[in-house]
Amino acid sequence: MYKTICFKEIGDSRGALIAIESGKSIPFEIKRIYYIFNTRSDVVRGKHAHKKLEQVFICLSGSCTLLIDDGEKREEIFLNDKTRGIYIQSMIWREIYDFSSDCVLVVLASQHYDEDDYIRDYATFLKIVKGGNDNE
Ligand code: TYD
Repeated sequence: MYKTICFKEIGDSRGALIAIESGKSIPFEIKRIYYIFNTRSDVVRGKHAHKKLEQVFICLSGSCTLLIDDGEKREEIFLNDKTRGIYIQSMIWREIYDFSSDCVLVVLASQHYDEDDYIRDYATFLKIVKGGNDNE
C-alpha cells in the first residue's frame, strides 16, 4: 500500500544535509511541492483519495500520523523522521492527524493541483476501488 524511501543523510562536522532528486530517489517527476504547518492538534487533514496523483510525504519537523486505506485495509504510519519518505500511489484514501505544534509535513506530488483529481467522499472512493463505476 506504500513504500518507505530512506534518504541518504550527508553529514559532516557542520551538520546534516539531505538531497532529493526528481525521478531518482523519488519514483516520479516532481511537479509540485506543498507543506503543511501550524496545524492544530485536533485537526484531521486529507480525508480524500486521488485518481491519478502519486505523492511522497516527509515529516521535516515534529510529528504527525498518516492513515492510509486502500479500501481493504487501513494502516497508520507515525511520521517523525526527516530521513524517511512515504510514497503512496493513486487511489489510496488518506487522513493526517495528531500534528505536533512544530510539525512541518512536506508533500512531493507528481501533478499540479487539480481539484478534478480528488475523491473527497469515502463511499465514492470505496465504490471505485471495489470495481464500481467512476462516474464521479
Ligand atoms: P486540502 O486539499 O483541503 O488540504 P489537505 O488535503 O491537506 O487537507 O487543501 C486546502 C486548500 O488548499 C484548498 O482550498 C485547495 C488548496 N490547495 C492548493 O491550492 N494547491 C495545493 O497544491 C493543495 C494541496 C491545496
